[in-house]
Amino acid sequence: MDKIIVTGNGPLNGEITISGAKNTCLKLMTAALLSDEPLTLTNVPRLSDIGTLSELLESLGCEVALLNGGNVMVLSAGTITNRKAEYEMVRKLRASFNVLGPLVAREGEATVSLPGGCAIGARKVDLHLMALEKLGATITLDEGYVHCSAPNGLTGAVIEFPFVTVGGTENAITAATLAKGTTVIKNAAREPDTVDLCKCLTAMGAKITGAGTSEITIEGVDRLHGATHEVIADRIELGTFMIAPAIAGGEVELIGGRRDLVDVFCKKLEATGVVITDTKRGLKVSHNGDRLQAIDVETEPFPGFPTDLQAQMMAALCTAEGTSKLHETIFENRFMHAPELIRMGANIDVQGGHATVTGVSKLKGAQVMATDLRASVSLILAGLAAEGETTVGRVYHLDRGYERIEEKLGGVGALIKRVPE
Ligand code: EPZ
Repeated sequence: MDKIIVTGNGPLNGEITISGAKNTCLKLMTAALLSDEPLTLTNVPRLSDIGTLSELLESLGCEVALLNGGNVMVLSAGTITNRKAEYEMVRKLRASFNVLGPLVAREGEATVSLPGGCAIGARKVDLHLMALEKLGATITLDEGYVHCSAPNGLTGAVIEFPFVTVGGTENAITAATLAKGTTVIKNAAREPDTVDLCKCLTAMGAKITGAGTSEITIEGVDRLHGATHEVIADRIELGTFMIAPAIAGGEVELIGGRRDLVDVFCKKLEATGVVITDTKRGLKVSHNGDRLQAIDVETEPFPGFPTDLQAQMMAALCTAEGTSKLHETIFENRFMHAPELIRMGANIDVQGGHATVTGVSKLKGAQVMATDLRASVSLILAGLAAEGETTVGRVYHLDRGYERIEEKLGGVGALIKRVPE
């Protein structure tokens, strides 16, 4: 397994191009199961999670072709040859559970392994199942698999989520596109990923209104057709790379970045003393290298501060002047980066979902490792301004969600290299 070594090397300057969004692309890929015509996705990020889901889709009979060096993906689900998503595949990637809605909508039946928990929390799927039951599916659980059946098709219904679930909303939307009648989803996710999915489904012939609001209405249609859709820019990659010059100083332009994707995050970053400007090609982040100012952060569903940027913001606040408070409200175990940052000299106290970070003037490089994607990248960010060398193990987490991270950060002057362990 590879390691990444980062050496604190002063300010970063230049530009980084933001890739297509991992979490959006995964859900767009599942939408291909809804039609017997090809779905072409452009701006596809080259990530291991995308490869994992491609394998699962292939096991269901969907052909997946990569063009243009992997940046374009053509998914052709002419005939579904298998309605069972095996544990071996689903356990590697939770987003795989989102094949359930499309499969049952199109085939009237599907069996999908329960994804199990993961490092950041229990991550249940009860709300996905509640939504499908509302649409008329019969659900049974057996030996770790969910069997979902609707032999006469799904029927539109009102689905009200007790709290926001991104994956649950998306499974419900895809299933409802082919249901008979109207589905209304209340307390729906407003995430840009969900909006982009609705845009793609609409291009495939679905009738959806209200995407981006907390009430989404779907008029079921008989069939969906092929389409071509460009994957939206990755707002989490964007936010991650915006923090790099905030930590190390310098000026970095994020090509393809959009403020509306990370508005609350931008306001918080600006409150630390960083300057963010809109440019013709994206967003520019400038910082003179002075210590940042402490801030308080609470994670929330979109449009609030994203949980997927909490670890990276914590890395920045480790060397801020003053005491910052972070409140993680989405996942119950998402401070696993804290003990590793403490190994680098940070002063962090975690109590349940609350972390108090008292800024120190400098972090020191150390050997660290993380147990999830965003925690891993927060350690790389911390290493950008630490004294000496930071070695981050278990790099496969990073490869799940950051395309060519050494190249992108190296391109703006970071001293970063990948070495075999
Ligand atoms: C998506 O996960 C993202 N993953 C996550 O990205 C992201 O952190 C999360 O949304 C929140 O923004 C993908 O899109 C592939 P949820 P998802 O359903 O859909 C609970 C990353 O680093 N819940 O909105 O699984 C759940 O346990 C990742 O890229 C239930 O209790 O998140 C959590 O506490 C990690 N029952 C909360 O809801 C359910 O049936 C929100 O989860 C579903 C969810």
